[in-house]
Amino acid sequence: MNTMEITKFVGAICGALLVFLLINLVSNGIFDTHSEMVAYTVEVPDESAGDAAEADAAPVDVAALVAAADPAAGEKVFKKCAACHKVDGSNAVGPHLDGVVGREAGTVPDFAYSDGMKAHGPWTPDALFAFLADPKGVVSGTKMSFAGLKKEDDRANLIAYLETISQ
Ligand code: HEC
Repeated sequence: MNTMEITKFVGAICGALLVFLLINLVSNGIFDTHSEMVAYTVEVPDESAGDAAEADAAPVDVAALVAAADPAAGEKVFKKCAACHKVDGSNAVGPHLDGVVGREAGTVPDFAYSDGMKAHGPWTPDALFAFLADPKGVVSGTKMSFAGLKKEDDRANLIAYLETISQ
């Protein structure tokens, strides 16, 4: 290589490096903008998740829900319970449910309750509201094989119906 060739060679390398640097700068610029956008979009669902959690944690006014509920609609919901529960004072797969609102849990004579049920307190509307949402979660070891009623309206209507047969 003579001097001329070396100069061209170095020049070519410098040129290539410059192009490389420029590409790097531009792509870093794009990357930075991109990561800012990601950080921003992550924040948005976080905030709404926080709001949703707050809504979940807010205590439900069961008394008000039940007062505004529809006992006739609750009687229809009770069809899901009727496979196991009677309301004429006789026991079936489950204990009879007439008079259940306000009754101490696990106290119907001649019914073999689980220990968990016997340890549960009185069936206030609040207690029923929680139990009927998730029977196994609220009374551990319960014999009641029922997944639960997820809708608040169904539970409120049902409790309003149970109140009509609890006086
Ligand atoms: C597959 C049968 C089955 C279904 C369906 C069922 N239950 Fe029960 N339920 C039981 C059994 C069994 C027990 C007794 C549980 C125990 O001793 O742990 C029980 C207990 C209860 C108790 C406690 C009663 C007491 O005397 O302490 C309530 C309240 C109750 N069920 C309400 C309901 C309602 C309301 C529904 C309908 C949404 C329903 N159950 C659906 C079988 C059932």
